[in-house]
Amino acid sequence: MKKLLISAISAVLLGSGVAMAAGGEGHIEDVAFSFESPFGKYDQQQLRRGFQVYREVCSACHGLKFVPLRSLADEGGPQMDPTWVRAFSAELDEAIDKETGEPRARKETDMFPSRSGEGMGPDLSLMAKARAGFHGPYGTGINQLFRGIGGPEYIVSVLTGYNGEEKEEAGSYFYHNAAFPGNWIAMAPPLSDDLIEYEDGHEATVHHMAEDVAAFLMWTAEPKMMARKQMGFVSVLLLTLLTVLLYLTNKRLWAPHKGKHV
Ligand code: HEC
Repeated sequence: MKKLLISAISAVLLGSGVAMAAGGEGHIEDVAFSFESPFGKYDQQQLRRGFQVYREVCSACHGLKFVPLRSLADEGGPQMDPTWVRAFSAELDEAIDKETGEPRARKETDMFPSRSGEGMGPDLSLMAKARAGFHGPYGTGINQLFRGIGGPEYIVSVLTGYNGEEKEEAGSYFYHNAAFPGNWIAMAPPLSDDLIEYEDGHEATVHHMAEDVAAFLMWTAEPKMMARKQMGFVSVLLLTLLTVLLYLTNKRLWAPHKGKHV
């Protein structure tokens, strides 16, 4: 019986090892993000760099229509200066006023602009939570338990997964991408080394930019992650305390019936 159990467990572990190497549908690279562990936090500098990549590169084709501009100044996020955010908002595409239906200058209380039409990509507000980088083994989700869902890893892998091959089909171009399901993506490689110059002087390799923008997109998808983790930690602490107190109460209540002195 014991032998059977051990072989069953090792089979599962081995299975997960195999699935890890394969990494979901496409090839997904594991990245050690600062926000991953139970006490992990967003790295503010990284969020600022990722935001810079988004606004200088990705925003040409991808909207963030669920992200309020003012949240850029929030604690726990990139925490940009509120005055800067106001000026930045005013420079973006005009917004349609809800009351008058007329276009007007965008304000920090509006959302980021959306993008639609020919050649534009999907909205990225929630992309980091909409895609799973890690799967299996065999639908058990064990991989995700240990390594996270893998949304930001998926984004990094897509951005770095090109090998230069491209093909034309019915007038559209597709680019070979190891991470994208099906391997042919309609997005031309958006990044190249030193494409942007980071405001904090960080090295701008494709890989750094990919990680930074993936971290930023994790923040747009879950801006309150740090508060959630903190709340979870406090809850577990209080429940542990409650368990100890209940155990002691139980002991005390039963002591006379068990012939012990209180
Ligand atoms: C020139 C326009 C353009 C730019 C610039 C661009 N993208 Fe895209 N992106 C697209 C298009 C179009 C698609 C849809 C590809 C498809 O479905 O085959 C896409 C798809 C994606 C996907 C995959 C979505 C999925 O369905 O899994 C991600 C992730 C992504 N883009 C992230 C980015 C990031 C991050 C940047 C900035 C570094 C960026 N893109 C820059 C046009 C662009």
